[in-house]
Amino acid sequence: MSTLAAQPVARTERNLYMPYRMRIARITDEAPAVKTFRLEFVDPADAEQFSFKAGQFGEYSVYGEGESTFCIASSPTRKGYIECTFRQVGRVTSALADRDEGDIIGFRGPYGNVFPIEQWRGKNLLFIAGGIALPPMRCVIWNCLDLRDQYKDVSIVYGARTVADLVYKHELAEWGTRPDVKLAVTVDPGGETPDWKGHVGFVPTVLDKLAPSSDNAIAVLCGPPIMIKLTMPVLTKLGFTPENIYTTLENRMKCGVGKCGRCNVGKLYVCKDGPVFTFAQLAALPAEY
Ligand SMILES: Cc1cc2nc3c(=O)[nH]c(=O)nc-3n(C[C@H](O)[C@H](O)[C@H](O)COP(=O)(O)OP(=O)(O)OC[C@H]3O[C@@H](n4cnc5c(N)ncnc54)[C@H](O)[C@@H]3O)c2cc1C
Ligand code: FES
Repeated sequence: MSTLAAQPVARTERNLYMPYRMRIARITDEAPAVKTFRLEFVDPADAEQFSFKAGQFGEYSVYGEGESTFCIASSPTRKGYIECTFRQVGRVTSALADRDEGDIIGFRGPYGNVFPIEQWRGKNLLFIAGGIALPPMRCVIWNCLDLRDQYKDVSIVYGARTVADLVYKHELAEWGTRPDVKLAVTVDPGGETPDWKGHVGFVPTVLDKLAPSSDNAIAVLCGPPIMIKLTMPVLTKLGFTPENIYTTLENRMKCGVGKCGRCNVGKLYVCKDGPVFTFAQLAALPAEY
């Protein structure tokens, strides 16, 4: 008799590449070509065992079209769903943009490292974002706001090219009325509307004017490369050190789990060792960063 035939098959681990089936519970149009999906697990058992932390990302798929990498834009403190916000730029994001509420898409994750928010307890937090870079920051902002008594001042500086390009407009309005959040929203010169009441100017200029203290503070900075380049000297002038400034990278990825080598920078795999880095860590990477 074959001993092999008698052995039960161990089914302990989920296949790494097997996506969860997610139902699109809600679609929000944020800005031109930018949508937020609220996704719920089709299988309640998947929902039960799933967890993630602020800073992590996933691979979102449409059958027959492929996968796209997006951060998880909702906070881990909000249970029962995840959210992603994406700009329609190509094949997969166009296929996603064509989906309706109730449709099923795939999700693999969570992947990557996290913002070390436990280490930030008792500190002042400064979040600076530009354009479509608010989604990775929205997750960590809500996470810290949902644990508000653990942190001191929370300041948010957010800029977009025009008023129409601002994402999460309803949440910006909410943050703007909270007494425990200092919010500055700005649009580029010429991007304002007649009824615009926020700032007009580029993010680094607005930050320079507001001059938040670097004392006992952490900064998180995400945005297009030109914004990062011009904002870093302002943060340095304010006294922030590279060890206390965090960002999240968006290198192109494929597997998301350190197998394919698509995302590596020097010895690092951005998908596993990142995407969250301090600017001190980035300074030690090869010249392109
Ligand atoms: C960790 C991580 C988090 C991300 N989070 C978000 C997010 O929250 N929201 C969001 O909208 N996007 C995010 N991105 C970028 C997103 O993955 C790409 O825009 C998306 O995969 C494009 O898919 P596509 O098939 O529609 O585009 P494709 O058809 O593959 O490409 C369309 C165009 O976009 C360019 N492109 C594709 N991927 C990237 C990239 N990573 N960086 C720069 N250019 C790119 C291509 O060169 C091409 O010009 C993230 C990327 C990473 C790695
Ligand atoms: S995306 Fe495959 S190794 Fe990072």
